[in-house]
Amino acid sequence: MTRAPTPQVRSAPQKRLFIKTYGCQMNVYDSERMADVLRPLGYGVVDSPEGADLVVLNTCHIREKAAEKVYSEIGRLKALRAEDPASAGMTIAVAGCVAQAEGQELINRAPAVDFVIGPQAFHKLPELLAKTGRVRGERVSSDFSPDAKFNALARPAAARKVAGPAAFLTVQEGCDKFCTFCVVPYTRGAEFSRPIEAILEEARALASEGTREVTLLGQNVNAYNGVEGGLAALVRALAAIPGLGRIRYTTSHPRDMDDALIAAHGDLDALMPYLHLPVQSGSDRVLKAMNRGHTAEGYLRLVERIRAARPDIALSGDFIVGFPGETDADFEATLDLVREVAYASAFSFKYSRRPGTPAASMSDQVDETLKAERLARLQAVLETQRQGFNAGVVGRTLPVLFERRGRYQGQIVGRSPYLQGVFTEGPETLIGQIALVDITSTGPNSLCGRLARTSCDRELA
Ligand code: 5AD
Ligand code: SF4
Repeated sequence: MTRAPTPQVRSAPQKRLFIKTYGCQMNVYDSERMADVLRPLGYGVVDSPEGADLVVLNTCHIREKAAEKVYSEIGRLKALRAEDPASAGMTIAVAGCVAQAEGQELINRAPAVDFVIGPQAFHKLPELLAKTGRVRGERVSSDFSPDAKFNALARPAAARKVAGPAAFLTVQEGCDKFCTFCVVPYTRGAEFSRPIEAILEEARALASEGTREVTLLGQNVNAYNGVEGGLAALVRALAAIPGLGRIRYTTSHPRDMDDALIAAHGDLDALMPYLHLPVQSGSDRVLKAMNRGHTAEGYLRLVERIRAARPDIALSGDFIVGFPGETDADFEATLDLVREVAYASAFSFKYSRRPGTPAASMSDQVDETLKAERLARLQAVLETQRQGFNAGVVGRTLPVLFERRGRYQGQIVGRSPYLQGVFTEGPETLIGQIALVDITSTGPNSLCGRLARTSCDRELA
């Protein structure tokens, strides 16, 4: 019997898309959505800019260093386009918060950039690229209509790249808090919550593709108001989706941490015992100048209530040292707060002066050397706490969601409920699944363990 010839499937001409993502997890999510909107146009994601048809820099404006990195990257791309024949046709686009904040200024300062596109406008990428040739000097900044963006992005799951075992899901964008140091209210606009139906649909699609964990994203995620009952109601609805065993959310503001959400941490198994709750400073004077809307004592009492609901919760925070006017005593108050809370992990930064924010024009800016000294002292305390937290789980058996292969043959890598990386030896078939691991030791940044014997193994032994 002769076999019928296999029909030749002619694939659409592949164009090479390289996206470089800076900054927060929301940018990671946005970059994935950009790849989704460009896929139907024949763009496939590649992992280096050499020979790419389109390079998108998805940028961050939160601190000066983050914004400046973009200009150095543009310089490298410009050289690549000039020197490498395979890269001569490259279109360079700048997306994200630097695009929003600097817009025309960016094009003037870096004429190699073909167009800039703000964080609420990237669904218009196909429109822009459909214009023949280069769309030089075009500026599509956002008019802050996240509603229009999310509607334009809502497409059948089949059109999306399959997400991994753990995926991000944006539920809220923007910020109305106007902390005096922060650019987010200007780059991402006012608080906007996606309707719950759209979120549940996206989560169901993810679960049906094998995603076991979703991290709900928002600049002020616990201000989510797309359903009555807020984020707690959304989390409870998500926990009912079969297959979704783990839910996380980030980033939260202490002012929006309501009783219902705290209660959810106490009684919802799917809600992971990890909470990123930035405080920024432990000094009431500084907190007031930052316009945080809470005191150090208020934050500490909140932490007490959260720990009463979920005693083992891993707390994480953000800190800024050297905010204008910060004295030695203010900084000591931050150290006192850190010692009282005992964080499992934390991010800490030197205050960076951001144009257009109220703190940038405050008169009593702190000297850079002093900022660096304070940052080193704070980070030393936070690092000791982090290692202490990790050491505390050695000897315990934790459920780990395996996400990928490790660097070594037979090694698989996953995350504990407390968001710690866990390395173990085990079959690759466990990737995408949750399995129990006996934690045996801690490394500098992660945990090591052995797959736990199940009750069934024990029965057979
Ligand atoms: N300087 C330093 N750190 C900042 N952050 C936000 N704006 C600034 C700034 N101007 C930090 C805050 C915030 C985190 C995302 O970035 O700690 O929580
Ligand atoms: Fe920035 Fe403050 Fe809003 Fe967080 S709450 S995004 S720090 S303005």
